[in-house]
Amino acid sequence: MRSHPQSAAPAGYLSGFGNQFSSEALPGALPVGQNSPQKVPYRLYTELLSGTAFTVPRSEARRTWLYRMRPSAAHGPYQRLERQLDAGLGAITPNRLRWNPQPIPAVPTDFLDGLSCLAANAEADQTSGASLYCYVANRSMQRVFFDADGELLMVPQQGALRLVTELGVLDVAPLEIAVIPRGMRVRIELLDASARGYVCENHGCALRLPELGPIGSNGLANPRDFLAPVACYEEHDGPVQLVQKFLGELWATELDHSPLDVVAWHGNNVPYKYDLRRFNTIGTVSFDHPDPSIFTVLTSPSAVAGMANIDFVIFPPRWMVAEHTFRPPWFHRNLMNEFMGLIDGAYDAKADGFLPGGASLHNCMSAHGPDRTSTEQAINAALEPHKIDNTLAFMFETGQVLRPTRQALHSPQLQADYDSCWAGLDKTFDMQGK
Ligand SMILES: [Fe+2]
Repeated sequence: MRSHPQSAAPAGYLSGFGNQFSSEALPGALPVGQNSPQKVPYRLYTELLSGTAFTVPRSEARRTWLYRMRPSAAHGPYQRLERQLDAGLGAITPNRLRWNPQPIPAVPTDFLDGLSCLAANAEADQTSGASLYCYVANRSMQRVFFDADGELLMVPQQGALRLVTELGVLDVAPLEIAVIPRGMRVRIELLDASARGYVCENHGCALRLPELGPIGSNGLANPRDFLAPVACYEEHDGPVQLVQKFLGELWATELDHSPLDVVAWHGNNVPYKYDLRRFNTIGTVSFDHPDPSIFTVLTSPSAVAGMANIDFVIFPPRWMVAEHTFRPPWFHRNLMNEFMGLIDGAYDAKADGFLPGGASLHNCMSAHGPDRTSTEQAINAALEPHKIDNTLAFMFETGQVLRPTRQALHSPQLQADYDSCWAGLDKTFDMQGK
């Protein structure tokens, strides 16, 4: 295996969401008016990458045409890797769970080595559901990876990443996210000494922007703030390990060239990034506060109208101005299942114990809400305008119950006393109290 120096920084980005982008790294490389001419400029090969069935409604269709030095088909058999992701599901539990952040390892660990599954609600061969991971790493990948089981929503918490994909390069830092389409080749490099974050592997419909309904034509995540890469190719003739995740298992083949050799492309099945600080946060200016769905950045719909396969929801810095209102999230028991992570700062419903890089899981009908300290502070707070600042929590919310993996249930990071954060919420009922 070769040692790979850090790739060059992105040459630029293409702005928009779901657009039919086109990009060429060499002038005239992109055929005009025809997808697969007999002779492609620069004697490249034509290849189609479909992210959806051919016959889905046009609004759902995702595909990209690639013009590359060698077709992806030029490879030998894949061999099952000895090291596998331990994604086996553990015992069923209705209990609320919370994990401390996973420590950065001392031994050399790339993104794939440091990827661990915390929970999942589907087998990898299903066409809906999601698997949720944390990653830790201290070195760049020297191999190239693709995931046949789903698209990858990357949420860095510590350390910036350089995602070198077939379509070009994306730099993504904490407070940004990136999405890599199912099947797209990527090498994940570190721009800092170490990296930690979260990954949602979406087995269902591709993520898209939520409908805005009465909000209107602006707001939440605006399409122009999503950035796709520009074409950028590697010309490398030498051994490269290509690893794929297929039905939950890791398999590898050895190529004699870099598979990141796409010179030009066009289509809408693209990797993209988004800066969460550009989210137009909307909330109440009178009383009460909206459901957290008002904070949805991206959504993957399920077959049930309005019930997400996966919602990616953030809790960003924002002004709290509601009158006569308990301002933290209220106590609740929901049909939907909530996996939360914290990128930065503190979450307004938890005074302590929920740490950046940590995670919590509240499944269907599990009762939760602010801890005792946050509750007491909120009841007694002066209701003047207040800015929640220097924080970013997020939620992967899904309609299907998330089962923790065996390794997550036996992890030393699992907090044994999570329930105690709601201890001491004693009866304060008073017949005379109004
Ligand atoms: Fe919740």
